[in-house]
Amino acid sequence: MSVRVTWYSHACTLIEADGARLLVDPFITGNPLAPVKPDELEADYILVSHGHPDHLGDTVDIAKRTGATVISNFEIQSWLGKQGLENLHPQHIGGGFDYPWGRVKLTIAHHGSALPDESYGGNPCGFLFYIQGKKIYHACDTGLFYDMKLIGEEGIDLAILPIGDNFTMGPEDALRAVKLVEPRQVIPIHYDTFEAIKQDPAAWKERVEKETSSKAAVLKPGDGLDL
Ligand code: NI
Ligand code: MN
Repeated sequence: MSVRVTWYSHACTLIEADGARLLVDPFITGNPLAPVKPDELEADYILVSHGHPDHLGDTVDIAKRTGATVISNFEIQSWLGKQGLENLHPQHIGGGFDYPWGRVKLTIAHHGSALPDESYGGNPCGFLFYIQGKKIYHACDTGLFYDMKLIGEEGIDLAILPIGDNFTMGPEDALRAVKLVEPRQVIPIHYDTFEAIKQDPAAWKERVEKETSSKAAVLKPGDGLDL
């Protein structure tokens, strides 16, 4: 069985494999590029990289409706518990856990993580999925960091990298990230949602494929690919 990866714009990504639906950073309400409504999304697990509203997004509503288990750092879990969520699985950076569908490890990310009410959200993270023999690195919001090379040493099938600039890596640094991670494929994310992060993903794809041996897939919101 293959692994299906669907991008819903910004950082919101659905990974489906082995009957499990894993939804990352479900920012739909208030997202001008979102191709779906929050109540159209189904999930068994929701992964939250950090507390900013464009990542935490509709997590609470979707989790309450679907009963999905939310995976995030310990600090965000405490806050989600106060919002009435019960199906919670805390992890923290560097730690992995074996779920019925595969494993996920939290990676570092250089960013912030304040929650909507300004509660402390701990350190932001990215996610490394080990699922159906595939390795997927979702960097979420981060600046470039050299330790991406360590993540690359694991042999990454798909990297999902922000290219928007302003809040995260821009195209130049995201290209350097591809050179550090050396994924077989890369999907650019976190661009065009807001004026400050307008980018040209087709031009970026061209540079990736000229300067590295990785293939880049520019997706339309709602589109996906199979691994
Ligand atoms: Ni952020
Ligand atoms: Mn963001």
